[in-house]
Amino acid sequence: TTESAATLQTTRGCPFAPPEQHLRLLREQPVAKVTLPAGGDAWVAARYEDIRTILTDPRFTADRGHPNAPRLTEDAMDPASSPLPKLMLNMDPPEHGPARRAVISEFTVRRMAALRPRIQQIVDEHLDAMIDGPRPADLVRDLALPVPSLVICEMLGVPYADHDFFQVHSAQLLNRAATEQERQHAVMELAIYLDKLITAKEQEHADDLLGRQIAKQRENGEVDHPALIGLAFLLLIAGHETTANMISLGTYLLLQEPEALEALRADPDKTVNAVEELLRYFTIAEFAMARVALEDVELGGTVIPAGSGVLMLANTGNRDPEVFEDAERFDIDRGARNHLTFGYGAHQCLGQNLARMELEIVFGTLFRRLPELRLAVPADQLSFKDQAAVYGMHELPVTW
Ligand code: HEM
Repeated sequence: TTESAATLQTTRGCPFAPPEQHLRLLREQPVAKVTLPAGGDAWVAARYEDIRTILTDPRFTADRGHPNAPRLTEDAMDPASSPLPKLMLNMDPPEHGPARRAVISEFTVRRMAALRPRIQQIVDEHLDAMIDGPRPADLVRDLALPVPSLVICEMLGVPYADHDFFQVHSAQLLNRAATEQERQHAVMELAIYLDKLITAKEQEHADDLLGRQIAKQRENGEVDHPALIGLAFLLLIAGHETTANMISLGTYLLLQEPEALEALRADPDKTVNAVEELLRYFTIAEFAMARVALEDVELGGTVIPAGSGVLMLANTGNRDPEVFEDAERFDIDRGARNHLTFGYGAHQCLGQNLARMELEIVFGTLFRRLPELRLAVPADQLSFKDQAAVYGMHELPVTW
């Protein structure tokens, strides 16, 4: 029997740890029914193995347009009323596979390696500008936000001049404090812009991700213009703030962990593992994985009834003692590549190789070029994005 014991916590006590109530669920009630902060119920899965089981079980749908899909805010946007076509994130088999396979070639390890020099250049240029600018600098504004944004815009073939536009509207979409109307407006603005951009690309045969999608679709028949708007939208939003938040949080944490930072400086090859551990430690998209049970599903003796919304508590899954020894310890040598931060199964993050490479380049370059980097304000004055769908920092004042 499972009583509705807990309310889903969207505010972390400690910026580095899952809410204490969620850790209690991990220990005592790993599959539980909870009350959502905005009202209504959902089920949560707190253990690593249960999360992976659900994410590979066809009895759950990923469609956030399902009336029972868990919503974190009362007026959270209903994909059914969105001007965009269904995004791959919301698709199930057999629809999901072809949509994902159509773009997977853009995110291979090989394609990423080809992007590396350009990303290094983008990071260096932004650090040059920061170093030449006034101190303290805001690392969020000067590095964390513009780098991933520029990278994904270049991949898609969006002109840099239009970046501010993207940052403003995508921030609005992820802002839990924004009203439904404000979010709808942001989606409309982005959709109108992308509509025009793709129309232009249909004429110009551009050698970028969107241009190649258009060419491929032409070969097979007609260009699916609305689907391309949806794809561009998804990539811009997914690739923008997520990586940015990891840059600011990771920099902050490494500045608080001088031993780890020293080890990284002494052996830059450790950066790859350090990035995995940072991803595990913060689990920034902790409420991103939402599903609905299409049938009754039994999990470890508990039945999740058909029609239930389910949230994977990836943040506690990433602290599961069955999988991560001494899970609350930050350990750059852990080799935490099996964490749940990018999800698992069919929808596992398409951009994960890109995100990993960006983080590796940013941390490697930042601490090499600015060995004196330090916080410009006391740590207790920093503010964290507890009101956003993706965890992060509003600003990170630094000096050197
Ligand atoms: C899916 C996290 C960066 C594109 C996902 C999912 C998670 C996630 C948890 C799975 C959602 C689910 O199962 O319902 C992250 C994190 C990132 C990051 C933590 C950065 C640190 C990126 C980047 C891109 C991207 C840079 C692209 C440029 C996508 C796409 C999907 C996805 C397209 C949907 C895949 C599908 O439905 O098949 N991401 N992501 N992500 N991500 Fe990421």
